[in-house]
Parts: sequence; C-alpha cells; structure tokens
Amino acid sequence: MTNQSISEAALIIKNGGLVAFPTETVYGLGANALNPFAAAKIFEMKERPSFDPLIVHIASFDDLATLSKGINENVMHLAKCFWPGPLTIVLLKSDIVPDIITSGLPTVGIRMPNNEIALELIRKSGCPIAAPSANKFGQLSPVSAHHVKKQLPNVDCVLDGGNSSVGIESTIVSVEGNFCRLLRPGFITLEDIEKALPNTFVFDHAKPEKMVSPGLLKSHYSPKKPLFVLNEFENSLPEFSGMILHNDCDLHYKANRIIYTSQTGNKIEIAANLFAALHAMEEDENVENIYIERVEEKGLGIAIMDRIKKAAYQYTQQARNTRFMS
Ligand code: TXA
Ligand code: MG
Repeated sequence: MTNQSISEAALIIKNGGLVAFPTETVYGLGANALNPFAAAKIFEMKERPSFDPLIVHIASFDDLATLSKGINENVMHLAKCFWPGPLTIVLLKSDIVPDIITSGLPTVGIRMPNNEIALELIRKSGCPIAAPSANKFGQLSPVSAHHVKKQLPNVDCVLDGGNSSVGIESTIVSVEGNFCRLLRPGFITLEDIEKALPNTFVFDHAKPEKMVSPGLLKSHYSPKKPLFVLNEFENSLPEFSGMILHNDCDLHYKANRIIYTSQTGNKIEIAANLFAALHAMEEDENVENIYIERVEEKGLGIAIMDRIKKAAYQYTQQARNTRFMS
C-alpha cells in the first residue's frame, strides 16, 4: 500500500465519499463520521437498516474526548489496555456526533483499530471514520479486498491490506460508571475484560435483559448457501456438501470440498480463517450446502461460535420449519 493511495483515499473521505479499508478484525466501509450525508451513503450501499448504529474509528486518544461524554477511569483503562485493537467501547455521545451514526441512540461505539493503513487513513482524512463491516447487511463479513469487491462493487475505493489478521469483528462493551456490559463477544474475551477491570461489575452478553445492540440479532453474517453446524450424530452428508473443520484429525465424513481453518484446533487460527472459509465455500460451484464443525464455547470459542450460530441460524430455522410442515 503506497502513501499515495492512502492520500487519495483520504481525499475521497474528505469529499464525503466512501472508502473500504482493512482493519485487523474485518474490512470496514468508511465515511467521515462527522458528515451525516456521507454516513447516509454507508446505509444505502450496505442496504443496512437505519436502526443499526455505526462504529466510529479513531487514531488518537484525543478523539475519544471530543466524540463522547462519560469517560471515566474504567474507560481510560480499557482504552490503554486494548487500543489500538479489537475492542469497541460504547459511551454517551457528544453533540458533534450526528444522530444518523448512532441511529438516534444517546451512545456511540468507538474503536482504535490496530492496522497501520486504517490509522494512516484516519490521520490523513483529518476526521474520525464511521465504518461498519464492508459487506451487504446480513451477509458474510469481508476479511480481504476481494471479499469487499464481491459484495460492494460500486464502492469509490478499496484499500488492499491483505487478509485481516484477527478475522472476526471487535468485542463491544458499554461502560457506565462501575458497570461494564459485554454487548458482542469478540477476540478480546469476557475474562480479558474482567482481568483489566477487577473492581468493576462485568456483565455477560449471553444474558441481556433486552436487545441493547443490533449486533445481538440472532441471524447475521450469513453465506448465500445453506450452512449447518455439524451434528456429531450425523453419519453422512448430502451430495455437493462442503465441510469446514478446525482440526485435521476430525475427518469422519465424505464431502466435495473440505477446508480446515486450523490443523490443530487453535482458536486464534480458527477466528482468523473462519470468514475466509465461508466465503470460499460460497464461491465454490461444487458446493451446495456447507457444514461446519463446532468449537468449544470457552474463551475465544464463545465469539467464534457466536458467528457460526448466527450464520447458520436462518438455514437451521428453515430446515426445522420444513420438517414441521411435512
Ligand atoms: O471489528 C469491527 O467492529 C468492525 C471493523 C470494521 O471495525 N466493524 C463492525 O461494524 O463490525 P458493524 O457495523 O458490522 O457492527 C457494529 C455493531 C453493530 O451490530 C451495532 O449495532 C453495534 O456495533 N453498535 C454500534 N454502535 C452502538 C451503540 N451505540 N450501542 C450499541 N451497539 C452499537
Ligand atoms: Mg457487520
């Protein structure tokens, strides 16, 4: 990536256009976060419902103070521990954040990504950058420039930074006084947050009293082909199946295509390769149905299974309904 192309991309952002850019989690579709018209283009291009707020990306700690209120020691501590990195902190928004960014919520999600191209783009643009994942709403998240172009062919500019190293979206937490709530599991685990904030009440995302983040929708991140979680008791797969496994010992089935996210069940590798494996199956003409192995729901496994279950949800429901009707 040349400085020239980052400068050109920054000019597009300054002029109210859209730029897809790499981050360590997934690729983002960015616009000037302080320009409501630019932000509106994101919703239009993604076909994203207006109730789903955008994360604002920053490159310096100073921007945290201009975008939000309610910054306390806990917030500063989380930011110092995990930024730049895959953690989004939801805080009361300041008046300069347009309502379209937060979908009318009084809060704003802020993150400093750990990717030099992203940070340089934000610096050169001279503004915070609002960016959801650069995919059509509900479809697979992109972890390469190719994945972005597949779903969003009309984006003004795609900065190519190779494959995203983390591979799943950031952990989202909200912080209010001495309470911290996990809104979306991610690479940074509940245990990591608890360790960083030993004197704070940390609530798990799995027990929300109400839907506080649209990221908690049951169905999300879906491939265009039916996806099912492999059932241990399934002894054979239908024709034209593709199978995603996480350990090369786990081969009990015949399939048209097999993709390993890891050879050894390493969860960091599984997270990094998960969306790329789903994209590859989606693009493979010899695969009609995709089956994916479970991972143990512990530590990073919680975020991985969260993405897998959401990706499979609509297809599992359809299969259930068909069985029920017939
Ligand atoms: O890793 C990531 O977070 C990537 C990269 C590009 O930074 N971005 C990303 O954005 O995953 P998106 O829009 O696909 O998911 C952001 C989630 C949405 O589900 C949204 O509902 C939630 O963050 N969110 C944003 N602002 C929020 C707020 N004020 N309160 C609660 N949830 C919020
Ligand atoms: Mg997304």
